Amino acid sequence: MFIQMKNGRKSYGKGESEVHALDGADISLEKGKVYVILGPSGSGKSTMLNMLGGLDSLDEGTITVDGREISGLKAADLTKYRKTDVGFVFQFYNLIPDLTVKENIQVVSDIADKPLDIDEVMQALDIDKYRDRFPNELSGGQQQRVAIARALIKNPKLLLCDELTGALDSKTSRTVLKFIEKVNQQFGTTIAIITHNEAIAGMADAVIKIKDGKVSSNTANENKLPASELAL
Ligand SMILES: Nc1ncnc2c1ncn2[C@@H]1O[C@H](COP(=O)(O)OP(=O)(O)OP(=O)(O)O)[C@@H](O)[C@H]1O
Ligand SMILES: [Mg+2]
Repeated sequence: MFIQMKNGRKSYGKGESEVHALDGADISLEKGKVYVILGPSGSGKSTMLNMLGGLDSLDEGTITVDGREISGLKAADLTKYRKTDVGFVFQFYNLIPDLTVKENIQVVSDIADKPLDIDEVMQALDIDKYRDRFPNELSGGQQQRVAIARALIKNPKLLLCDELTGALDSKTSRTVLKFIEKVNQQFGTTIAIITHNEAIAGMADAVIKIKDGKVSSNTANENKLPASELAL
C-alpha cells in the first residue's frame, strides 16, 4: 500500500473539553488513484489530511508513505517530507498577493528537489495566459488553479486538497475538477480531496467516509465518471 495510517489517534484539549479528532482511524491509499473523502463537519477529515501531509503529528498510531514511516520523524525530516512529497491545496488559495502568478509558482519550484517544468504545469492548468497577473486580478477558479499549480510544481507524490471547491460556484468547480483529473492522468499523482459535495465522489477511484474520527468505509467507485459529467 502506498499510503497507510494505522490506528491513528489525535486529541485536542484536556479533561472535559477533550476532543478525539481521530479515534483509531485506519486508511489505505493506492498509488496514482483519486480519493474523495466525505463526512460530517467535525468528523476529523481535515485532521486526517493534516496528519497524512505531515502538518501535524499523531498522538498514537503510524503513517507510512511509499514504504517509509513518517509518524515519528524528527521535525527537520518531517519538514523535508512536507517540502518534497506533499502538495497541499487549501480552500482559500493561500497565494502571495505581491507576487505574480508565475512568481507564486516559481518560489515553490525554487526550493523543490525535482520540480516539474513551470511552463508545462501552467499550461496543464491553463493559467499560462495569466502568468504576469497578480492574484487579486484573477477569479476564484483561476486563483484555485494557481494554488493547484503551486502544490503540483514540486511533483509531489501526494496531492491533498481540503475543500478544494468549497468557495467556488458549480461551473468553476467543474473547471477546477477537470484540471485535477488531468493532473492525475498526466503526472500520476495520488490525490485525496475532502469535500462536502457528494457529487464530486463520482470522479473518485474510491470514496472514503469518515465518522467520529474513524474511517467508516473505503469503497471502490464502480461507475467512475469524468469530471465533465458530474452533477455538481
Ligand atoms: N487545533 C484544534 N484544537 C482543538 N480542537 C480541534 C483542533 N482541530 C480540530 N479540532 C476538533 O477536532 C474535531 C475534528 O476536526 P476537523 O477539523 O478534523 O473536522 P472536519 O471533518 O474537517 O470538519 P469540517 O467539515 O467542518 O471542516 C472537531 O471537533 C474540531 O473541533
Ligand atoms: Mg475540515
